[in-house]
Amino acid sequence: MQASQSPPPDHLRYLRDDDMPQAFQDLLSSLPLEEDWFPSLRLYQGFWFPSSLLSGIFNCQNHFQAYLSDILLVTNPKSGTTWLKAILFALLNRAKYSNSDSQGCHPLLTQNSHELVPYLEHKLYLEQENPDLSALASPRLLATHLPYSSLPQSVSDSKCKLVYLGRNPKDTFVSMWHFTNKLRPEGKGQIPIQECLNRFCRGVSPYGPYWDHVLGYHKASLEKPEKVLFVTYEQMKLDPRAHVRRLANFVGCPLNEEELRDETVEGVLRMCSFDNLSSLEVNKSGKLWNGLESKLFFRRGEVGDWVNYMSAEMGERIDGVVDEKLHGSGLKL
Ligand code: A3P
Repeated sequence: MQASQSPPPDHLRYLRDDDMPQAFQDLLSSLPLEEDWFPSLRLYQGFWFPSSLLSGIFNCQNHFQAYLSDILLVTNPKSGTTWLKAILFALLNRAKYSNSDSQGCHPLLTQNSHELVPYLEHKLYLEQENPDLSALASPRLLATHLPYSSLPQSVSDSKCKLVYLGRNPKDTFVSMWHFTNKLRPEGKGQIPIQECLNRFCRGVSPYGPYWDHVLGYHKASLEKPEKVLFVTYEQMKLDPRAHVRRLANFVGCPLNEEELRDETVEGVLRMCSFDNLSSLEVNKSGKLWNGLESKLFFRRGEVGDWVNYMSAEMGERIDGVVDEKLHGSGLKL
């Protein structure tokens, strides 16, 4: 942690990077730094990563071995990861919890989806240099925020599946601004949104530039549609039923005729709805492995909420930058 920044409180110890080995500290300090974003960010392989996660990123890049059957869920932070994790978990495990008795003990009722679908670089490879993941139930459902170009080699070489969830940049930005404010040490107050916006538009945000992150996966989804599925938060909101079917087909657990007729899809959507998940005790008062409160991952869960925090001018500024970067890609967000 840089001397000019106060260290995060103990319950956010995962944001600290001062107890890493010296060699790693040296490497870390050679990377360009953005201190003003909390937690601080370092530029590595063309993207701004939270400094405290870099050891997890290196470990994961060096050691993760993808299996053909793996399903990797990828997002830019604040794009709806919590929701998609829940949906994919519920879909893959639906046979186990299909009747009313088993529904009552569904893991999503007592565990946050971030615990059920672990992050590679945030959790598994941050806690251990080379964790043994061979015992995880198959197909392994894992998550990452890593950009496409920074994925471990074995992921690129394998035929494992990647599901990417994109989100409108203005809503992603506002969601990220709120989240970042909640992570700031007590007494530091909110970061002025205009300051945050300036950085976002320069490409400086966790796992940013936002547009390069999205474009990497969008391009991959066009080149390798059997490997990468690109979906957006807005599409999911607009027609959740169709997208649950699409996700199920892509990850190799299609809904059968009976499931398409009965309440299966509605059951998954009900279980994973914002209202249901955010009202569960585990998500109201629970904490994640890293000390973060689960409730931080549930705010409004709506499309277009940016208008409540940014002027039209600020919105146009984000649109201008992002539209220019996305120009020619065929992608509109
Ligand atoms: P808002 O801040 O706009 O409300 P992530 O999970 O990637 O951190 O993204 C968090 C965003 O997803 C937050 O957006 C949060 O409210 C929203 N979200 C969380 N759970 C959701 C759900 N079940 N359905 C829809 N949106 C959800």
